[in-house]
Amino acid sequence: MTGSSLAAFLEEYAASNPKDGEAVSEILLGLAKCAEQVRDYVNQGALGSAFAGAKGSTNADGDTQKELDVLADDNFLDAMRAVPVALYGSEEINNPVLLDRNKKYAIAIDPLDGSSNIDTNVSIGTIFGILPVIGDPAEHPENSFLQPGSSQLAAGYFIYGPQLALVVSVGNGTHIFVYSARSNAFILAYENLKIPQQTSEYGINASNYNEWSDKQRRYIDDCLAGASGPRQKKFNMRWVGSLVADAYRILIRGGVFIYPGDKRKGYANGRLRLVYEANPVSLLAEQAGGAAVCCDEEGGRRILDIIPTELHQRIPLAFGSSAEIACLEQYHGKNNT
Ligand code: AHG
Ligand code: MN
Ligand code: MN
Repeated sequence: MTGSSLAAFLEEYAASNPKDGEAVSEILLGLAKCAEQVRDYVNQGALGSAFAGAKGSTNADGDTQKELDVLADDNFLDAMRAVPVALYGSEEINNPVLLDRNKKYAIAIDPLDGSSNIDTNVSIGTIFGILPVIGDPAEHPENSFLQPGSSQLAAGYFIYGPQLALVVSVGNGTHIFVYSARSNAFILAYENLKIPQQTSEYGINASNYNEWSDKQRRYIDDCLAGASGPRQKKFNMRWVGSLVADAYRILIRGGVFIYPGDKRKGYANGRLRLVYEANPVSLLAEQAGGAAVCCDEEGGRRILDIIPTELHQRIPLAFGSSAEIACLEQYHGKNNT
């Protein structure tokens, strides 16, 4: 119940999940300890070395790597060596890293989400999904990451914002733990959160309007038409540029987040990566009674059903209030007879 520590919450979870509970708990506690260290780098801001800007390198997806991207990745990779993780699949590393072929779990991770906000003092975070290893992790390391998001045993993210918080699901709802310096522990603040089904708030990077499909444009046009338009209500818009911050707002007060595919080179499937961004956030959204879909020409496929083809695959992503996601799917042609 609220007020209990992450350790106490995970003890209860492990007791009721004899197969994976203990190992998944150990991994989550290892992630939490590392997040406290990364939070310290973030808190130092420009006074610390981690904010020196771009490292001059790029990741597998061609994104410029910031100092903090790589520092966070190094810290989490190290932290995962001490817990029962066989494979580490990171946004910042081309191929999965084999840590221990005898362990049974794989972690998919975006070590630093919201890199464009690192030096603007805006919330950023670390997103993760924990998967069971498939096959021989030494022979075929990538196979463990090509499972649908519904196979995640646990998923969530740390947000380095006004509070350090952990948003997490171990399959029994979505919960938020806020870090308390006083008790030097993550404390349960919201148990079994539910996303309001209806909303009048959407998040999208509207600067890409001219690059969207006609269907996507029409959805936003009708939101902008307000009370006198087809939606018959005024909409508000929020876009932080850090998935972890937009997702936190949606979990707390509802809304939809949309990153569609667009006509820019390399953005046919949007910007978000399926395995270590869309899947963890989609599990959180669904466990909180929301919906998460891939709004493309097929109308709207459930994100957690999609089989990834490679670790860094991008996916058009829309998640949040279930009634509004259903409406967005209509605009994209779902169930149109
Ligand atoms: P990352 O910093 O890990 O690359 O993720 C950034 C993502 C996501 O956090 C955010 O919602 C989106 O990129 C913002 O994209 P735009 O900058 O195109 O708006
Ligand atoms: Mn990211
Ligand atoms: Mn990142």
